[in-house]
Amino acid sequence: MLAAADVDAVINFAAESHVDRSILDSGPFVQTNIVGTQVLMDACRAAGVPRFIQVSTDEVYGSLGPEGYFTEETPLAPNSPYSASKAAADLLLRSYCHTFGFPGLITRCSNNYGPYQFPEKLIPLFISNAMNDQPLPVYGTGENVRNWIHVLDHCRGIDAVLRRGRVGEVYNFGGHAEMKNIDLTRLLLELLGKPESLIRFVQDRPGHDLRYAIDCSKAERELGWRPQVDFRTGLEETIRWYQDHAEWVERVRSGAYREYYEKQYGQRLSSAE
Ligand SMILES: NC(=O)c1ccc[n+]([C@@H]2O[C@H](COP(=O)([O-])OP(=O)(O)OC[C@H]3O[C@@H](n4cnc5c(N)ncnc54)[C@H](O)[C@@H]3O)[C@@H](O)[C@H]2O)c1
Repeated sequence: MLAAADVDAVINFAAESHVDRSILDSGPFVQTNIVGTQVLMDACRAAGVPRFIQVSTDEVYGSLGPEGYFTEETPLAPNSPYSASKAAADLLLRSYCHTFGFPGLITRCSNNYGPYQFPEKLIPLFISNAMNDQPLPVYGTGENVRNWIHVLDHCRGIDAVLRRGRVGEVYNFGGHAEMKNIDLTRLLLELLGKPESLIRFVQDRPGHDLRYAIDCSKAERELGWRPQVDFRTGLEETIRWYQDHAEWVERVRSGAYREYYEKQYGQRLSSAE
């Protein structure tokens, strides 16, 4: 099918992507993220697809202390079943490049935010909970640091890799916006005009990585890529988007999502009351 369609490139965005779900059950993560990537790469090899981009994550590098940055040379040290499955796919791709001359490239990006993000992830979860005056469940003491990038800047990076990246190479992407989860939570509440009394500190995620910070100078140097969206402006636009799409949020928060939310936060929130 790929050969018949004369495909120029395949970009593999598909994944089971949420760390908390991988802790509840790692099976779908192994299946989709590792086996899924293998199936796609074999199909691309068979069809002679000339370029394959694997959308990976900075979480494959593990966790940082208060100092330092992940570069493309940082050893892989994944700490969650999610990041382990993404690292496994990266290694499989690496082996295909080496063994078969497979035209693969890898992107590793920090935490994304923006419109249409499923409200199980931190920023849309907190925006939609706050919009409904529901508590915001902050893991531990909220000291974990993440580097945030607008989804459009991530996509611009993937596009640059597609057009100008070198086969066999890895490219890091990040947004130059590092923030502790608790500071981000307070900023979201401020921008939404909601009180800090909505914050609930809940039992931490097991094995919660302390800090991710990314050095994306290779992408800046080789691809001429730069993040363009200022974090505060991007957050304000994202909040407006969720306020304007309350119906979409309600639709995705119903059904199976409710069951997941109850499993993930129900017990934690009742012990935090
Ligand atoms: N969101 C982030 O902060 C972030 C950061 C770095 C990298 N990434 C990577 O970017 C990619 C997209 O992430 P996202 O945040 O949009 O995640 P997401 O979970 O919102 O989207 C993943 C998509 O993959 C699809 N999918 C899942 N299993 C599939 C299967 N077996 N077959 C076909 N499709 C399947 C889902 O339907 C969904 O549309 C992932 O590979 C993720 O690892 C995400």
